Amino acid sequence: MKKLAVFASGTGTNFVAIAKACASGVIKAEVAVMVCDKPGAAVIDRAREMGIETFVFSPKDYTGKSAYEAEIVKLLDAKEIDLVCLAGYMRIVGETLLNAYEGKIINIHPSLLPSFKGAHAVEDAVAYGVKVYGITIHWVNADLDGGKIIAQRAFPYEGSDPAEVHRLGQVIEHQLYIETINKILNQ
Ligand code: GRF
Repeated sequence: MKKLAVFASGTGTNFVAIAKACASGVIKAEVAVMVCDKPGAAVIDRAREMGIETFVFSPKDYTGKSAYEAEIVKLLDAKEIDLVCLAGYMRIVGETLLNAYEGKIINIHPSLLPSFKGAHAVEDAVAYGVKVYGITIHWVNADLDGGKIIAQRAFPYEGSDPAEVHRLGQVIEHQLYIETINKILNQ
């Protein structure tokens, strides 16, 4: 059985979609650990309700990014993680984690990359007047939101409400993330 680690910082709807797909056999893997950098984030309760091990940390408790990433690498190694799925993990992955796991880390981003990189992709796209939105899943490297694209899905939206774009996009995200994880694991 392949093993996934899911990293999240917030609500965790993508985490839940992935974990449910694993539990029901739609993804032939198990979520071995959920890593969260925000004590108090809703995703932690969701993981605990589903009986999934969590590693929750506060970056301020460490001397720097390489210190907490070294601990994460130890954990991922111990669990023999095959694939790391970033799902709303609001931190830039540093060289400690990349050196150990590059080529095994993917991220989901709420725009059609390379347009609208960064943390405010949807808001930026709405401000730009975009009419076709989308979701991208890509490999993670040192270039923020710049790794090679694995999958994309577009949807039309002519309005100007970022919350509506997020809602429409998340339905696609959950489906696309499950399909893409399956493709990678079956390669
Ligand atoms: C998603 O919209 C994803 O594209 C972005 O962060 C959001 C996470 O949402 N990277 P959730 O916590 O999975 O609900």
